[in-house]
Amino acid sequence: MRSETAPAIRLEDYQPPVYRIEKVHLTVKLDPAETEVVATLSVARQADVQAGTPLVLDGDELSLRELKLNGEVLPDDGYTVSPGKLEIHAPPSKSFDLKITTQINPEANTKLMGLYRSSGTYCTQCEAEGFRRITYFLDRPDVLAIYTTRVEAPKTDCPVLLANGNLMEKGDIDGTDRHYALWHDPHPKPAYLFALVAGNLAQVPNRFTTASDKKVDLNIYVEHGNEGLCSWAMDSLKRSMKWDEDVFGREYDLDVFNIVAVSDFNMGAMENKGLNIFNDKYVLADPETATDQDYANIEAVIAHEYFHNWTGNRITCRDWFQLCLKEGLTVFRDQEFTSDMRSRPVKRITDVRLLKTHQFPEDAGPLAHPVRPRVYHEINNFYTATVYEKGAEVVRMLKTVLGDEGFHRGLDLYFDRHDGEATTIEAFLTCFEDTNGTDLSQFALWYEQAGTPVVSVASAYDADRQTYSLSLSQEIPPVPGQRSSKPAVIPLRFGLLGPDGKDMHATSASGINISGDVLLMEKSRHEITFSGVSSQPVLSLLRAFSAPVRIDQKFATADLQFLAARDNDPFNRWQAVQSLAMQELVRLTGTIRHGELGAPADGVVSVFGAVLNDQNLDPALKALALTLPSEADIAQEIGKNVDPDAILAARKQLRQAIARQFHGALRAAALEFAPRGDYSPDAETAGKRALSNRAAYYYAVSNTEDAAQFTWDRFSSADNMTDRLAGLMLLVHDHMPGETAALDLYLSRHEKTSLAMDKWFMVQATAPGDGTLATIKSLFSHPLYDATNPNRVRALLQSFATGNATQFARPDGAGFELVAESVLEIDKRNPQVASRLLTSFRSWRALDANRCALAESTLMKISSCEDLSRDSRDIIDRTLQ
Ligand code: BES
Ligand code: ZN
Repeated sequence: MRSETAPAIRLEDYQPPVYRIEKVHLTVKLDPAETEVVATLSVARQADVQAGTPLVLDGDELSLRELKLNGEVLPDDGYTVSPGKLEIHAPPSKSFDLKITTQINPEANTKLMGLYRSSGTYCTQCEAEGFRRITYFLDRPDVLAIYTTRVEAPKTDCPVLLANGNLMEKGDIDGTDRHYALWHDPHPKPAYLFALVAGNLAQVPNRFTTASDKKVDLNIYVEHGNEGLCSWAMDSLKRSMKWDEDVFGREYDLDVFNIVAVSDFNMGAMENKGLNIFNDKYVLADPETATDQDYANIEAVIAHEYFHNWTGNRITCRDWFQLCLKEGLTVFRDQEFTSDMRSRPVKRITDVRLLKTHQFPEDAGPLAHPVRPRVYHEINNFYTATVYEKGAEVVRMLKTVLGDEGFHRGLDLYFDRHDGEATTIEAFLTCFEDTNGTDLSQFALWYEQAGTPVVSVASAYDADRQTYSLSLSQEIPPVPGQRSSKPAVIPLRFGLLGPDGKDMHATSASGINISGDVLLMEKSRHEITFSGVSSQPVLSLLRAFSAPVRIDQKFATADLQFLAARDNDPFNRWQAVQSLAMQELVRLTGTIRHGELGAPADGVVSVFGAVLNDQNLDPALKALALTLPSEADIAQEIGKNVDPDAILAARKQLRQAIARQFHGALRAAALEFAPRGDYSPDAETAGKRALSNRAAYYYAVSNTEDAAQFTWDRFSSADNMTDRLAGLMLLVHDHMPGETAALDLYLSRHEKTSLAMDKWFMVQATAPGDGTLATIKSLFSHPLYDATNPNRVRALLQSFATGNATQFARPDGAGFELVAESVLEIDKRNPQVASRLLTSFRSWRALDANRCALAESTLMKISSCEDLSRDSRDIIDRTLQ
């Protein structure tokens, strides 16, 4: 018998809670297997609710020890405990105290939700529904309470005792080897923001003074020995705090801000009030073990979690359907932070690549859902690229549509009006309507409709009349479960490029609303005419990727080449190079599939040469422009009947053609742009390193005499992780001489550093070639493999399933099998990690007939399993739908 699908939770069924919980006093007596939690809840019945209405609390894997109401033990017939619920049948009065004593087992908690242990440290993860694994509670985001938490533990095991808010008291517990700490958080918050940490951790202190001169103690807690790896994270935190004051006018609101790094964590990091808990990969860094990308990620994740203090914590979500209210907005904020700290165009290109590789396929497959879903079975499965990345794009469009000032007016009202509340997308949008005098009801469709709109473009120039006409139409392709769609508001930033590469200025335009350089599509079709256009322009549309849409436009190669060389919008310059490469890669893939050899067109290869030799291009942008569309991007562009082997071969052909034609310039660039002197993770230096490594990536397949030696030397003499990892990838992925020696060398250098070893597993799992499957199987029994550590599992399996298309989708089905078996095994321990891994099947229907059939039978096999978790059952049901 297959496991049951969990009941559907629907937005339309939302009901406010019948009781409030105004105050929570928790005493947590920590013990590895028998932790006692005493929760005293001040409960109040809502004004419009009948006396005697039952109080139904959530619970999960709790042992109830004692239950007292207003100090009296509740008789057995006064309540019912069932798995998942505690019902108090008839609470006696309008308000009362409920004292609940439960026992939990942190050591046995392999789901890493609720209270668990990571390398001996007690920690919690409560979002989305983990607090119910600590005590019985109204575990929903619209129940806001003030928490006081007393943590008790043995002094020697757990010298550090932390919880949310400010420390009130600390002391020994007389006559025992234990001590306690009492924390109080004055800000009402939902249970998902509760946190507690206890362990033997090192403290790295610092301090921040807010704009209104409030002194805030900052601390990062890490395992002993890692104190020296926190300076980048601390620096990022201070810059985040300052930036949020300067740009959004938001100050911090407690005396202390603590960050704890743990090595076992399902997600990246968590914004618990005053006590953020992080996956240690987003805290710890030094040049020896962290790449430039790691440094950039740490900066962004620290900022993201800090920014939640306003967008998420002080103003939270009414229900989990509103998740994008905090996540989309906070991702937008962290993107803006990074743009200001680093390079705006580089950040924009990076984010759009992420959106296109993760969100577009999600939106085009069986797991498609609106930015604000209307139904879910398991909320953990909705922390998706759509909620996060598309959610951020929608906020960005709001800013484009309203302009900077209008946008900030709306946000200021939002902070003002809803501070201390749990609210909705509607309330959020109303703030922008009220401050801008606009109607955003059509804009709101971005939250309601799944699927990526396609904007089709046709143009004509009339030299006699000096007019340029543009037909724009929009359509959302069919999405499972979505009957029809309405036209969305699509802001299209544009330019009409004249022959000199400068934007031309038409004297007038009709058929659409234009404000500045933005065309505002509001209908399904627009026929636009620009007058006073003195020569045939080249259209540069969707500049800076002003809307999350696909553009369907027939481009003459010459126009793309022109845009690639001359567009004054850096994003669209990059896009033009990508489009040229993409066209060619799709064509080559087709040729290879027909058993022909084919050769990349000179015109495309030479564009890469021109980029490489452009003296005016910023190195980081140049590195991005020289990056070919990924295999997954090409597969998506092809859309159906996909053969990953042909894609890999086509991509290799183009890479080799570029390498052979420009080997001299590539070798020179690899050397010239390698930064000298002490390592620095700043954006400019990192950009140079990226270009140097990008050039080396081509040079490695250049057929020159010294390519292999050159690659080996770069790897073996690297004095930082960025260069070392780049070198290792080339040696292993291109199966170059020294491949095995390089892996051994890396292993002996980094075997004691877990985060560096994740990379070692990842590199091997993503290597193309028939041998990879056997390698992965043997790595399962490597002494450093740990199936209970999410980072390690992701390094070996998630990276294989999402980053090794030819081996995952092997034509013999063995790649699918391997992942399926792993999913089933992991699912018993950690459903969240398992269900995430399972989403790697989401594009299975786009594969060729043979692979598609193999994927389907593998998925059916998973589906027929008994005891699948809710998480995995939900993903498998939707994937097969
Ligand atoms: N609130 C989330 C963490 C979270 C996600 C908890 C899912 C429970 C379930 C946090 O703010 C977050 O979004 N973290 C991201 C990283 C961020 C930089 C986008 C994550 O963990 O991946
Ligand atoms: Zn977040």
